[in-house]
Amino acid sequence: MTQTQIHRHTRLSIFMHWFNAGCWIFLLLTGLGLIQNDDLQPFTSWPTILRIVFGGGANLLLAHEIVGVTWAGGFFLYGIVRLKSDVLPFFREIFNVNIHRDFLWLVAKGIQMTLGYRALGVIAEKFGFSPVIPDQGFYNIGQKIFAVPAVFGGIVIVASGITMILSQIGMASTELVQWAILVHFITVGLVFAGLLIHVFMASIAAGEQPAFISMFTGSVPEDYARHHHKLWLDEVKKS
Ligand code: HEM
Repeated sequence: MTQTQIHRHTRLSIFMHWFNAGCWIFLLLTGLGLIQNDDLQPFTSWPTILRIVFGGGANLLLAHEIVGVTWAGGFFLYGIVRLKSDVLPFFREIFNVNIHRDFLWLVAKGIQMTLGYRALGVIAEKFGFSPVIPDQGFYNIGQKIFAVPAVFGGIVIVASGITMILSQIGMASTELVQWAILVHFITVGLVFAGLLIHVFMASIAAGEQPAFISMFTGSVPEDYARHHHKLWLDEVKKS
């Protein structure tokens, strides 16, 4: 029997997500190739390989800058065109936190995912909390914990990147650029750490396949919505 599908993502938001993912992959790979310092570079032949592919370091930097500006510009336009319909609701959702419920979700879900339901029951009884994993809204708290730094980290990465571009035309001081390089580097590293978990949870973790498929089709089966995002499903049913 085919299950009822619940609409979850618009075509444009799906496009923006994969546009973002594509830009991130390109920027990470080319950014890593721009680090020509053997003390920092984990893959010492990568910069040389990329310089051959792009026909020199200047072209590699230019490609990194063009994709970076396209990425930022794409989101700027999206932010203007879809401010009320997509962007503001997205911000409201990722900042909508219920400390008690969401903390319990993190603990219970963490135990269930690593040790299983039986261990969750045993540990919950021992420490006196409910073994029932609390219901979540459109995003669960784990997704929100990633989404907030991904968005604000992205803004910091763009601002520091633009500072570096401005320095090439003499519009930013050496001191400012040195700070921008450090901030750019650290922020990319922090968001990347979260990204590894995001990609694992979104595309590899068993039980999350419907969310992954929804990033192409735009909808999820009702059972999945009830199990993973019940508070959101309740809202959808009410409207
Ligand atoms: C290429 C690998 C990626 C895969 C497989 C992937 C997968 C997914 C999936 C399946 C969702 C939907 C979750 C849902 O509907 O509940 C999602 C949402 C999202 N993705 Fe990705 N994504 C990838 C890359 C990225 C990148 C590079 C970023 C940003 C740095 C990103 C940021 C987000 C954000 C902010 C959301 C909404 C909140 C969340 O679900 O965490 N994703 N992603």
